[in-house]
Amino acid sequence: MMAVSNLSSDVIPDSVMKANIAEIERVSLREVADVTDMAGLQGLRLKYLGRKGVVTALLREVSQQPPESRAQWGKSCNELKNRIETALEERSSVILASGASASLLKQAIDVTLPGRTLPRGGIHPIVKVSNEICTIFTSMGFSIADGPEVETDSYNFSSLNIPKDHSSRDMQDTFYVTDDVVLRTHTSPVQIRVMEGTNPPLRIISPGRVYRPDWDITHSPMFHQIEGFVVDIGVTFGDLKGVLLLFLQKIFGEDTILRFRPSFFPFTEPSAEVDIQCGICHGSGCRSCSHSGWLEILGCGMIDPAVFANVGYDYDKFSGFAFGVGVERVVMLKYGVSDIRHFFENDVRFLEQF
Ligand code: PHE
Repeated sequence: MMAVSNLSSDVIPDSVMKANIAEIERVSLREVADVTDMAGLQGLRLKYLGRKGVVTALLREVSQQPPESRAQWGKSCNELKNRIETALEERSSVILASGASASLLKQAIDVTLPGRTLPRGGIHPIVKVSNEICTIFTSMGFSIADGPEVETDSYNFSSLNIPKDHSSRDMQDTFYVTDDVVLRTHTSPVQIRVMEGTNPPLRIISPGRVYRPDWDITHSPMFHQIEGFVVDIGVTFGDLKGVLLLFLQKIFGEDTILRFRPSFFPFTEPSAEVDIQCGICHGSGCRSCSHSGWLEILGCGMIDPAVFANVGYDYDKFSGFAFGVGVERVVMLKYGVSDIRHFFENDVRFLEQF
């Protein structure tokens, strides 16, 4: 700084003092205005106001001035010091603010970019069809009931007229938890639980998981069934046929043709197995229906009086029907799925198709 280099410990003429102050002010304010970062600003603060700074040196000179002009130069120097200080402060807030907005700009979200979507979950086909079936029945006035998957032997078998050591037990292979507790092999125990606690008339639908030790392309150790039953005065096999026809036509299409085949279940009499006519060959036989023309879809029958007796219903007064349908089987026939194990492997490429 040229102005500062003029300073000495001698008395300085007033004109030089005035010029020095003006020059320091001009140069310092321009430097402050030009600086763009906080480090540079701190450098300028030291250069002018620090212990060895230009203004500090000037103030020292003031004390060398004759007493009559000392006060005036002291005041001028202090004013200079204040102006530089103010300039430094103002510059500092400008730099801070521009730094903040620069970093905001850097972090800014471009709202014009397309969003990043997360893959959406879906409803499992088994749950979807199970819900569909329940909706068909609730629209016919059925109520939904639930029951435990770990069930007593009595609810799963005995009360349903399947005594211990009777050959009818062999119809359903069973996971035993203890001698008297099983993983339920079907949803039929819900019939007993509901009837025990409620008087007719009853129209019940009960979806849920059931368990049997089987594992191949058409069997899974855990699968889903939907139990349905109606108990009232004067319920007939005709009612059963009408309800099942309506249900299966809603699921498989209006032109679905049914066949009732005599069968046996310990808890229904008479009993039937229901087939739908193969939609591919229309009954003439093809690979899909193992050349029979028909696809087995569910078991049903009129509730056996022995079951009514077990729950304390008057079987001379009430009659009823029941049916049990495997949900996996329905989904496989409806969508042409050839291996039941697809449902449990959680491959999204498979699950996405429903
Ligand atoms: N519970 C039987 C089964 O799992 C199906 C069924 C239910 C049959 C109700 C008749 C009446 O095989």
